[in-house]
Amino acid sequence: MTSPLFNQHNAALITGAAMGIGRATALACARIGMRIAAVDLPGPDLDALEKELDSVTDNPAHTLCIAADLSEQGSAAHIFSRVTDQLGSVNLLMNNAVSREGRTFDGTTDQWRRLFDVNLWAVVEASRLFMPEMIKNGQRAAIVNVGSKQGITNPPGTPAYNMSKAAVKSFTEQLEHELRSNEQNHGQVTSHLLVPGWTTTGKNEHKQGAWLPEQVVDYMMQAIDRGSFYIVCPDDEVSSDMDNRRIIWGAEDITKDRPPLSRWHAGFREAADKACS
Ligand SMILES: NC(=O)c1ccc[n+]([C@@H]2O[C@H](COP(=O)([O-])OP(=O)(O)OC[C@H]3O[C@@H](n4cnc5c(N)ncnc54)[C@H](O)[C@@H]3O)[C@@H](O)[C@H]2O)c1
Repeated sequence: MTSPLFNQHNAALITGAAMGIGRATALACARIGMRIAAVDLPGPDLDALEKELDSVTDNPAHTLCIAADLSEQGSAAHIFSRVTDQLGSVNLLMNNAVSREGRTFDGTTDQWRRLFDVNLWAVVEASRLFMPEMIKNGQRAAIVNVGSKQGITNPPGTPAYNMSKAAVKSFTEQLEHELRSNEQNHGQVTSHLLVPGWTTTGKNEHKQGAWLPEQVVDYMMQAIDRGSFYIVCPDDEVSSDMDNRRIIWGAEDITKDRPPLSRWHAGFREAADKACS
């Protein structure tokens, strides 16, 4: 690894930056002195972030807030050209924006498609646009795609969201393999799957047991500098050991010929509770 990713010479592009984990990442990177491109839907939250970023950085030319709807085709290409023109090469691409629209079985197919446009296709497009540039630049760089435990252990209730996050996991694993197999990349460009635990974000009230977005960002920064690909955050209710046992339980649905989602199946719930909590 050439140099730490998070330093004042580097630039970060964060999607879904107006709120939650994205906002905390943008502010943390700005405090380090990094150049920041923050992407979100137009509105007061993005305007407020712009002011906050300006108050943190000593050079307003170092921040760029882009109002864009990532569900729209071509948005990734538009963002790519604006950011590279105005901030230069990007060292951190964090695909963090999320749509939770119509994520249950009651949602329409159109809603599921739009959710996929934001949660999966915007991630894929941005990663594929930035990866060759990052490799060509030869600087330390990382693509962080934000997944979810719901994309790994697949709890019932929000199928569209879980499916999109499972696809993000699969894509990012492929991306990491591609990066380490690419002969032009000598380890300077990496990718990472960030899997937050229960985190207080959006306009939600902070509840006991949840982490704050700043805790997720600290955990992520340390894990990236350590070289971890899977960054699975615990929270104050679920430890890393519990997460590991839940992931193993889910994989064993296949290897032990159990029904899918057996953790939530009446016939297996007691055994699952014992094994996983
Ligand atoms: N909060 C949690 O407990 C939790 C748990 C697991 C995973 N995650 C993941 O972490 C990431 C951040 O989640 P969060 O809870 O901080 O989110 P959040 O809801 O606080 O913020 C998401 C941001 O994405 C933006 N966004 C939504 N649709 C968009 C679009 N079409 N174009 C541009 N921007 C759009 C929103 O405006 C918002 O600012 C997400 O990928 C989420 O799936 C969060």
